Amino acid sequence: MIVAVDGPVAAGKGTLARLLAKHFGLAYLDTGSLYRAVASKVLRTGAAPEQAAQSLDAADLAAPDLRAEAVGQMASKVAAIPAVRAALLDYQRSFARNPPGAVLDGRDIGTVVCPWAEVKLFVTASPERRANRRYLELRAKGDNVSEADVLADLIARDARDSARDVAPLKPALDAHLLDTTDLAIEAAFEAARAKVAERL
Ligand code: DC
Repeated sequence: MIVAVDGPVAAGKGTLARLLAKHFGLAYLDTGSLYRAVASKVLRTGAAPEQAAQSLDAADLAAPDLRAEAVGQMASKVAAIPAVRAALLDYQRSFARNPPGAVLDGRDIGTVVCPWAEVKLFVTASPERRANRRYLELRAKGDNVSEADVLADLIARDARDSARDVAPLKPALDAHLLDTTDLAIEAAFEAARAKVAERL
């Protein structure tokens, strides 16, 4: 069983994917963290993005700045480089193929990484709602950001992720769209759980 959870920045796909994995006893992979690890390595060491992707190790995946906004923006930039995406593809596919299966969240899981996934969800929400959620998260961590800046960054990152030539952010033709603008996490989880349960 492979569940693909794709969508733009801060749509709630990570929380949803983690809950689905726990509920159905599947492994979970946050594929954005791979691109973030490449970005963080590039920022830290000055390595070329392709080289950083090819030499990614456990320490890179545990880098303390992985969730920083600047790393997210850089991740979106390195993710547009075909050689970087190619270097990360095998790892994602072999993770997904390990029994009993996995939930992967990202941008291109249903379209490129696992087009054969049994269930594909495309999670969205309005930019304003997503920016507000991210803003509250950042403030709770003590980050002194403005909501307007968070919204501007999110719009820029989504535009870049959607416009790139390789594996752009877009729903697979057979993806179920889940708009979480007015949905609490419990209701979003219930809708997603039902889609997976239908396929079991
Ligand atoms: O999900 P995230 O915000 O942690 O992802 C960071 C960036 O990585 C995102 O802006 C685009 C890129 N990404 C990607 O291109 N493909 C994926 N499957 C996951 C993330």
